[in-house]
Amino acid sequence: MTPRSVAIVGASGAVGQDFLAVLAAREFPLRSLRLLASPRSAGTRVAFRGESLPIEALGPESFRGIDLALFSAGGAVSREHAPRAVASGAVVVDNSSAFRMDPAVPLVVPEVNPAAVHGHRGVIANPNCSTILLVLALAPLQRAAGLRAVVVSTYQAASGAGQQAMLELREGTAAALRGETRPPRVLPQTLAFNLFPQVDVFQPDGFTKEEDKLQFETRKILGMPELPVDATCVRVPVERCHSESVTVQLERPLAVAAARELLAAAPGLELVDDPAQQRYPMPLAMAGRDPVAVGRIRLGRVFVPGLTFWLAGDQLRKGAALNAVQIAELL
Ligand SMILES: NC(=O)c1ccc[n+]([C@@H]2O[C@H](COP(=O)([O-])OP(=O)(O)OC[C@H]3O[C@@H](n4cnc5c(N)ncnc54)[C@H](OP(=O)(O)O)[C@@H]3O)[C@@H](O)[C@H]2O)c1
Repeated sequence: MTPRSVAIVGASGAVGQDFLAVLAAREFPLRSLRLLASPRSAGTRVAFRGESLPIEALGPESFRGIDLALFSAGGAVSREHAPRAVASGAVVVDNSSAFRMDPAVPLVVPEVNPAAVHGHRGVIANPNCSTILLVLALAPLQRAAGLRAVVVSTYQAASGAGQQAMLELREGTAAALRGETRPPRVLPQTLAFNLFPQVDVFQPDGFTKEEDKLQFETRKILGMPELPVDATCVRVPVERCHSESVTVQLERPLAVAAARELLAAAPGLELVDDPAQQRYPMPLAMAGRDPVAVGRIRLGRVFVPGLTFWLAGDQLRKGAALNAVQIAELL
């Protein structure tokens, strides 16, 4: 690959830090790397490949000379600055939800719909983190047996809500162990020794925005605009890595052994399914790792033909930074 001039918008954040780790680990060819965040972080320095790089405040001139801009600073920042980056000649890979459902913007998981990347007009959207983990497992099942419906419950880590939420979980847990209670600051409820069925805001029909993302983004990525997806998204007191309980109704029967074989061979997945040895996917085991682990595969009892399974993956890695860098590599 030709070396690129890359900017990371949101470099001081949870996803931003993983961008640095992924670019270094994959030896992404860089001509230059510009780190951007809010004025709060301007001037702080970050270690990257043995160098100390400064974080700069994001501004109108930040994208001069930049070929590739990796955005992870929230929807408002993307809406304001991504068009500026494109106007100055950069390709944007955006981690926010700002452009995902725009029909003109490709929504890409490289292992699932790599060809979609070619239709871009400057912006490519990185899907929601829970959606990325889910479609990696759904795509091989869709190809082998056809999909009719999906029911998914997520168990989402604190880091999915950013660095401050991670800190809130740590501090809240320490406070609870001292017998103190801490009111939540970033999250909507106390997370320490608790969980709550709310990720993002509620919609008029009772689903949350996160649950809507799982339905609409899955449909777009799999090219199934009518696929019914019932999601319940739950925040759990885990620091890193989301898990999901998934039930699929299939068009054609698929035996458990065949599903195991299929998922074990699918790119981006790792089969961890040995119930006799109490081996199944867990968030702690996946932290900082690239693949999404799938296990507990069994025949469905409600939807026939169908399957029920469990997955866990690092939503900061494959659910955000890694997927975006893989998109850049595709380009
Ligand atoms: N966390 C996840 O698992 C995950 C997964 C997929 C996608 N995402 C998406 O990625 C984005 C970032 O999430 P995160 O978890 O990394 O959040 P985070 O830890 O809170 O980090 C937010 C980053 O955005 C920067 N920022 C905020 N306001 C800014 C502004 N006005 N101008 C420039 N920079 C600004 C922050 O800079 P300062 O430090 O200077 O404030 C920080 O670098 C969000 O859109 C989120 O939905 C997150």
